[in-house]
Amino acid sequence: MPADPILGPVLFTAAQIRRRVRQLAAQISRVYGDQEVRLVTVLKGGVFFLTDLARELTCPVTLDFLAISSYGPGIQSGEVRLTKDLDESIVDRHVLIVEDVVDTGLTLAYIRRVLQQRQPASLRICILFDRPYRRLVDLPIDFVGFELPDRFVVGYGLDYRQRYRNLRAVHFVRSEALPTPELP
Ligand code: IMP
Ligand code: MG
Repeated sequence: MPADPILGPVLFTAAQIRRRVRQLAAQISRVYGDQEVRLVTVLKGGVFFLTDLARELTCPVTLDFLAISSYGPGIQSGEVRLTKDLDESIVDRHVLIVEDVVDTGLTLAYIRRVLQQRQPASLRICILFDRPYRRLVDLPIDFVGFELPDRFVVGYGLDYRQRYRNLRAVHFVRSEALPTPELP
């Protein structure tokens, strides 16, 4: 098979990710005990992390999904729109937002604000990949998997033009392959 011109070296192997997801699940299971937790995931990137995490949790779990869109550079101003809302009410529920990656935090801050208004019993955030040094807003994050370098990566839910989400490992993208070498 010819080498993919986009894919660069592996940053996190499938085994490293699996191990870290197990550790996070143990940590989360300790916090909730036998309380039921509603895992809320943002389509589509977070889905891969969600399904692995959910299968490692020992607390009772239910799932719900939302989808958002942001307009071009609007993401920088936090202009986000819900394109799919949750199916169920979260009033009095213990809600855990499960996300793949956080940079500026603008998207997640918006989602957190929207969900907080719905009076959940508790609201926490779990993300697998973080770039804390890119944050533009203050965002309390309860569980974090890995810190990412300031380079664009794909795999395990993360896409480049909607592709590569299904890779088991996280790869750097070859910088010569990107129209702009910096992050979007
Ligand atoms: P922010 O936290 O509002 O800046 O948005 C982060 C979003 O940017 C994520 O939900 C991803 O869709 C996207 N993103 C950030 N870094 C990467 C990356 O390295 N690869 C793929 N998508 C990324
Ligand atoms: Mg995303």
